[in-house]
Amino acid sequence: MPGLLDTEAIRKDFPILDRQVHDGRKLVYLDNAATSQKPRQVLDALSEYYERYNANVHRGVHVLAEEATALYEGARDKVAEFVNAPSRDEVIFTKNASESLNLVANMLGWADEPYRVDHETEIVITEMEHHSNIVPWQLLAQRTGAKLKWFGLTDDGRLDLSRIDEVITEKTKIVSFVLVSNILGTVNPVEAIVRRAQEVGALVCVDASQAAPHMPLDVQALQADFVAFTGHKMCGPTGIGVLWGRQELLEDLPPFLGGGEMIETVSMSSSTYAPAPHKFEAGTPPIAQAVGLGAAIDYLSAIGMDKVLAHEHAITEYAVKRLAEVPDLRIIGPATAEDRGAAISFTLGDIHPHDVGQVLDEQGIAVRVGHHCARPVCLRYGIPATTRASFYLYSTPAEIDALVDGLEHVRNFFG
Ligand code: ALA
Repeated sequence: MPGLLDTEAIRKDFPILDRQVHDGRKLVYLDNAATSQKPRQVLDALSEYYERYNANVHRGVHVLAEEATALYEGARDKVAEFVNAPSRDEVIFTKNASESLNLVANMLGWADEPYRVDHETEIVITEMEHHSNIVPWQLLAQRTGAKLKWFGLTDDGRLDLSRIDEVITEKTKIVSFVLVSNILGTVNPVEAIVRRAQEVGALVCVDASQAAPHMPLDVQALQADFVAFTGHKMCGPTGIGVLWGRQELLEDLPPFLGGGEMIETVSMSSSTYAPAPHKFEAGTPPIAQAVGLGAAIDYLSAIGMDKVLAHEHAITEYAVKRLAEVPDLRIIGPATAEDRGAAISFTLGDIHPHDVGQVLDEQGIAVRVGHHCARPVCLRYGIPATTRASFYLYSTPAEIDALVDGLEHVRNFFG
């Protein structure tokens, strides 16, 4: 199959992929959109950090503090390069993508003109957002009186942009949307949305949680104002997220969390703030986690994100083809591998996805079932939940075959 990576070699880096579950069944891990597995290189970086360098950052004069600071700030350099950020100061570490998106919503909520979101302004999202790109905007709309609007979905799982000029208007302050849907797998047409947002002077925030792990990500090419993603879906540890933001915005916008590290001076009556990114990183940051993310970026970069993308495209193409052979299986989302990422949601006749997931699990196959934190998508398509198989750089055609065989077993099991 053209485009495939050498998965035999890659899988040796991921100790967990050798695990057996349920009395000796080989683990088939197809829940990568929820979290990816971690290579030995990342696990080693984490333990080496704690064994040799652990200290708090930015505040010590001793050797360990300086080394820990260099490692933490070095991870920021790696992220900046990975996403082609014009400046390392545009990279803010958070705890996950949800926190990154909440940070943007709160920056705008407390901002002065021209960024201020108030009762005369509008916020635009889409019906395929993860809850983490819905709820922060609902909270902001409730607090400020702003109107929340959204793009609906077409029957084949894409954004309906047919009324783009009515959805994004002169009143729009921010358009926040997902680059690759975690439930539908759809890759969204960033350019068209950004073009319209720029016409009306609205800011653009892109949730790249399901994109950063899987394809080259270039924040300058996206032309967005903010880009959020998380470390644990891209071979890194949990507890580390990223918000990239345009420098002049980060200079102008107010902080959200207050505390140590984010200040310049503090008196009992007022404070001044450190420049970005530190202005947005109150308290002791996720130091080891940032170091782990840096190691994950080294790992992915050594393979090449274009190669990761090509591998996943080949696997997804094969999966779409094989899943079409399963009777009663309906893909929720684009039914071809074009313009889609490596997460495929489906229903199987009237068998409840939780039952599908459980019977697959008994065969060692790990998928996710439920609404995938994107409940409006399930409501839109009139289904309670889906079963989702999601792939990564170590996924193999044999695992797709195992999934298809597993689904046959599910169908037989439920008659
Ligand atoms: N957002 C993650 C998922 O889609 C947890 O599974």
